[in-house]
Amino acid sequence: MAQLWRGVIREYMEYLPFAEGDPIITLGEGGTPLVPADAISRRVGADVWLKVEGANPTGSFKDRGMTAAISKVVAEGSTTVVCASTGNTSASAAAYAAKAGLRCAVVLPQGKIAAGKMAQAVVHGAILLAVDGNFDDCLNIVRALADSYPVSLVNSVNPFRLQGQKTAAFEICDELGDAPDIHVLPVGNAGNISAYWMGYREYAERGPATRTPRMWGVQAEGAAPFVKGEPIKNPETVATAIRIGNPASWDLAVAARDESGGWIRAVSDTQILAAQAMIAAEVGVFVEPASAASVAGLLAAAEAGDVPKGARITCTVTGNGLKDTETALAGRVLDPTVIPVDIAAAADALGLS
Ligand code: F0G
Repeated sequence: MAQLWRGVIREYMEYLPFAEGDPIITLGEGGTPLVPADAISRRVGADVWLKVEGANPTGSFKDRGMTAAISKVVAEGSTTVVCASTGNTSASAAAYAAKAGLRCAVVLPQGKIAAGKMAQAVVHGAILLAVDGNFDDCLNIVRALADSYPVSLVNSVNPFRLQGQKTAAFEICDELGDAPDIHVLPVGNAGNISAYWMGYREYAERGPATRTPRMWGVQAEGAAPFVKGEPIKNPETVATAIRIGNPASWDLAVAARDESGGWIRAVSDTQILAAQAMIAAEVGVFVEPASAASVAGLLAAAEAGDVPKGARITCTVTGNGLKDTETALAGRVLDPTVIPVDIAAAADALGLS
């Protein structure tokens, strides 16, 4: 009989601040595919795998952290959660709050959220506030709200978020039999790189892995505070999910980079969109632009001669491409050949006859 997946808290409880009997709010997150990416492996001369986080219940890696954060909110008896978001955190918070029967308010940068993510917040019943500002402004607002009012903050500054998100590193080690040589992922508010590093370290300390990978973080050129070495006032990129100038987990991300012997670099929007198209056309995985930043960064590193030959490399692709079809289809011709209801015409049009 198939082994059914029980969500990340039940699968990895011994590594998480949860015990049997605690309330657990889950949508079955985690257990996502780790897909060998032959087309990318060939390009960079290494053994490349994609951790497809768009396969989570709300279509992004945020669900791993949200199951933990919302479960703790329920345990503590709070009834309202708030978050700032570039779209995925709000989608996830809204869904898990709906499952738990909590009120959810999301504070978003006006006009900068992909349509699919906006739809998710709406259908799950969240209260939407749009701010004439960027993500960093939104995060300041919800932090202040949570300080002064009886609402629980579920952004990644909530420590339970990173606890849940570290399980992705566990899954990768479990599947590959050990940690990879290098792990590549996009960096925005910098929670996820911090969470992966925590997960890899814990697995090496407690036995299931024998080593930790180098962490390679990738930002968008117009929103690359780690590359600049200081916060950026007006971040801008087509990858709206990582349009962030003042990352909350700054120190943790710098520690992940430096302790692992890794780096954080930037790629252009053009490189991001080219990587997104390539992953879809040659690996068969449709990811959102921010997710493609990891692969774009890896391709750029290969061009610079920085990818060790034959290295085992995992790339997190963080979110589902269906969340933002507008960006993916921009500049493409959507023009099917129109045929009558006729098999011969179909064969003709396909060059089969
Ligand atoms: N990729 C996607 C698809 C994201 O949504 C995010 C962050 C990141 C990468 C970066 O991860 O912030 O942990 O460094 N999205 C947040 C949100 C900010 O509000 O949905 P990070």
